[in-house]
Amino acid sequence: MLIMKTPGAVLLLLWLGLLVGASESGDIDLLVQKYIRTELESENVESRLQAIVETTLLPFKQRRAVAFTAALQPPSGDKDGYGHIGPFSEEVTLIHQKVLTNVGEAYNNTSGVFTAPVSGVYFFTFTTYSWVKNKNIGVKLMKNNDEVLLIWENQDSGDNEDYASNSVVLELEVGDTVYMRLPEGFCVGASIRANIHTFSGFLL
Ligand SMILES: *[C@@H]1O[C@H](CO)[C@@H](O)[C@H](O)[C@H]1NC(C)=O
Ligand SMILES: *[C@@H]1O[C@H](CO)[C@@H](O)[C@H](O)[C@H]1NC(C)=O
Repeated sequence: MLIMKTPGAVLLLLWLGLLVGASESGDIDLLVQKYIRTELESENVESRLQAIVETTLLPFKQRRAVAFTAALQPPSGDKDGYGHIGPFSEEVTLIHQKVLTNVGEAYNNTSGVFTAPVSGVYFFTFTTYSWVKNKNIGVKLMKNNDEVLLIWENQDSGDNEDYASNSVVLELEVGDTVYMRLPEGFCVGASIRANIHTFSGFLL
C-alpha cells in the first residue's frame, strides 16, 4: 500500500527504472500491463477517481455558462435587406435585436445591454459594417459609463464599404454592463437577411 501514497512522478521514475532494466530482457509490454493492472486492481483506485472528479471536474461543470451573440438589424432594409442606422444628433446605444445565442440570458435584446451575472473575466468582440459615402462610421464599446474601445473611419466618396472589428478581455463584477454605442453623427450598416454586424461576449 506504500506505493499508492507515492507521488505519480516518483512512481513513474520507479517504473522507468524497471523498464530500462526490463528492456534488456525484452519484457516492456508485460511490465506496462502489470503496472496498469496493479493500478486498476488496487483498492484505492475508486477513491482516487472520486477525488479527481470532486476537485477538477465538478467545479468546472457547475460553473455558470454565460455566452451571447446578437446581430444588428436596420430599421428597414432595401430589396436585399440592407439598411443604415444613423446618423443621429446624439449618441445612441446600438441594439443588436436578433439573438443568435444567449446562454444565461445576460444580454438584453430590448436595451442592447449585457449585464454580468457573475464576477469574472469576460471576452467581448464585435464586427461592424457600413456602406455609405462621405460620412463618419464607427462604434464604441462601453463598460458601465466608460468607453473601452472605439473604431472609427471617415468614409470618402470612393471607398464606401467597410468592415471593422475589435475585441477586449474585461474583468467584470456582478451587475457591470457592457454595450455598444453609435457616436453622434456616425452611421453603420446592418442587414435583415444576413448577420453582418454582430456583438458577442462570453465568460472565460
Ligand atoms: C429577443 O430576445 C427574446 C428573449 O430572449 C427572444 O424571444 C426574441 O426572439 C429575441 N428577438 C430576436 C429578434 O431575436
Ligand atoms: C430588458 O431591457 C428593457 C428595456 O430597458 C427592460 O424593460 C427589461 O426589463 C429588460 N429585461 C430584463 C430581463 O432585464
